[in-house]
Amino acid sequence: MNFKVNKEDVVNYKAELILKTDSILTEGPSWDEDKKLLYWVDIEGKKVHIFDPQRSVDKEIKVDQYVGAAVPTRSGELLLAMKNGFYFLNVEDSRLTFICNPENDKPYNRFNDGKCDCMGRFFAGTMSLNETDPTGALYCLERDMTTRKVLENVTISNGIAWSPDNKTMYYIDSPTKRVDAFDYDPKTGNVSNRRAIIVIEEGVPDGMTSDSEGMLWIAHWGGWQVSRWDPYRGKKIASVKLPVEKVSSCVFGGVDLDELYITTARKGDVKNQPYAGSIFVVKTGIKGVPTYKYCR
Ligand code: BGC
Ligand code: CA
Repeated sequence: MNFKVNKEDVVNYKAELILKTDSILTEGPSWDEDKKLLYWVDIEGKKVHIFDPQRSVDKEIKVDQYVGAAVPTRSGELLLAMKNGFYFLNVEDSRLTFICNPENDKPYNRFNDGKCDCMGRFFAGTMSLNETDPTGALYCLERDMTTRKVLENVTISNGIAWSPDNKTMYYIDSPTKRVDAFDYDPKTGNVSNRRAIIVIEEGVPDGMTSDSEGMLWIAHWGGWQVSRWDPYRGKKIASVKLPVEKVSSCVFGGVDLDELYITTARKGDVKNQPYAGSIFVVKTGIKGVPTYKYCR
């Protein structure tokens, strides 16, 4: 375990570089527990990557659109949230199969972050390409592949996570600077009782994941770190400082599911940030909530 406690009782973890990349908007990481692989995307570079941390091998698959998130499915394909909707990606032959586009009528939007719940539904949200109009929404791709709109008036749909008991869903619309909580019903996938639980002051909150102790790990876009929060007390309890300003997301992986993989972006002025766009890892010693697979 690699941490020390500072004066304010905020634990400081140290991150190590695990994959140096020149990718532009490194994002949307997910972990395949069976294959021990990290999936990640370069949203603006229009690429899906498959990284094997044990062998230090990274494979790139070019796609034809912006790709916001890639998650594993039970059949072994990946499920992608792209500029023009949901697709399956066959990782052997790179073939894309279109599923549907709930935003056919919104060419100025693209999909951004997405994640599956414990029942194998896929939640993914959209944002305007100009990053300021509140034209985005959060959708659920149900297990029968129909879609449902979950939230409206979203500006930059980002991190999604669930408590270990799956009774709470956490959600980030980045410009609000907040993490909101909802009561969650895993039987129906319905959310209710929205309330703000955390306000981020250093940068804006971007991607997020949860751990087996019920704590949240939040990437700070513009804030040089990932922070760990107790959502019950609204208190920051740990921080992982990074040598990159725009920290985009994080997910637990590794053979024991206790390593936090952190993605960063090469955007804006990165002259003094040689590792912008790269992926880092922290051995936290805390088990994460696993990446759930889409049910198909
Ligand atoms: C989006 C970026 C955006 C950032 C900060 C990311 O998830 O892909 O386009 O600038 O969040 O809100
Ligand atoms: Ca994001």
